[in-house]
Amino acid sequence: MDIKKVMVIGAGQMGSGIAQVCAEAGYEVFLNDIKDEFVDRGLGIINKNLNRQVEKGRLSEGDRDAILNQITASVQLEDASEVDLVIEAAVENMEIKSKIFTQLDEIAPAHAILATNTSSLPITEIAAVTKRPEKVIGMHFMNPVPVMKLIEVIRGLATSDEVYEVIEEMSHKLNKTPVEVNDFPGFVSNRILMPMINEAIYTVYEGVATPEAIDEVMKLGMNHPMGPLTLADFIGLDTCLYIMETLQEGFGDDKYRPCPLLRKYVKAGWLGKKTGRGFYQY
Ligand code: CAA
Repeated sequence: MDIKKVMVIGAGQMGSGIAQVCAEAGYEVFLNDIKDEFVDRGLGIINKNLNRQVEKGRLSEGDRDAILNQITASVQLEDASEVDLVIEAAVENMEIKSKIFTQLDEIAPAHAILATNTSSLPITEIAAVTKRPEKVIGMHFMNPVPVMKLIEVIRGLATSDEVYEVIEEMSHKLNKTPVEVNDFPGFVSNRILMPMINEAIYTVYEGVATPEAIDEVMKLGMNHPMGPLTLADFIGLDTCLYIMETLQEGFGDDKYRPCPLLRKYVKAGWLGKKTGRGFYQY
């Protein structure tokens, strides 16, 4: 199985980053979203990232243009009929993902692998809506995608060894490090990260310390590049709440109970960096 053409679905922060690293590695990429303006915004993010590399003297203008030329804007899922791999990075909503995968299963060639960048939804359940569950796999990239080395590669219950190996090899070509994980709520990354973030929020809620103090402790004391509350704002508090709910629902365990302060911020529309306010103001 040789991957040459890739479709990335969702041109947000994650999808545009994924499209960028695929294009940089020489893959032909369709960057797909439901509206032209969303795709344009994603292309704008990629342009900005590549221009920064040009300014730093790490990339020539010619190479930047060649990378951009590898990417084709797409607003119809039918373009998936030409690709060997789809990486879905749409919103974290099971209903929407099920719909996309049902359609992709009809459109994509029989040999195509269908991957999802979900951060916590079950790969096995997404795979079950298709007639090719052995070709469905999780490729969980970290934000910011161009910088972060990890791809958490998640095997659904039916994912074949061959498909796993193709994705593992491709991850190396993307200059990333794949780590193999099985399909359980939150996988490994968010099962460990989110309870830490949630506990940091409880620490604010209970008045133990200010957000600044908590972040300082974790940065200077544990060598984390950013504190848990800054990171929560960076990920999006709605996403953090959603993942905590997925963990609580999946394991039924009180230790995953989302902090009431997290719920309150989300209800207030304080979702972090993207809305200008979370634990900090932007
Ligand atoms: N896109 C592209 N490049 C970016 C970027 C972005 N959004 N943000 C920063 N960079 C690049 C910068 O250009 C810079 O590149 P060079 O070193 O080549 O010049 C480099 O990253 C370092 O940037 P800065 O010096 O400005 O800032 P920094 O030292 O604070 O590093 C960071 C930025 C790498 C994001 C760092 O703060 C960090 O590691 N943060 C934690 C990131 C993290 O934990 N991500 C995982 C989130 S969880 C997730 O994604 C999964 C999930 O399911 C929720």
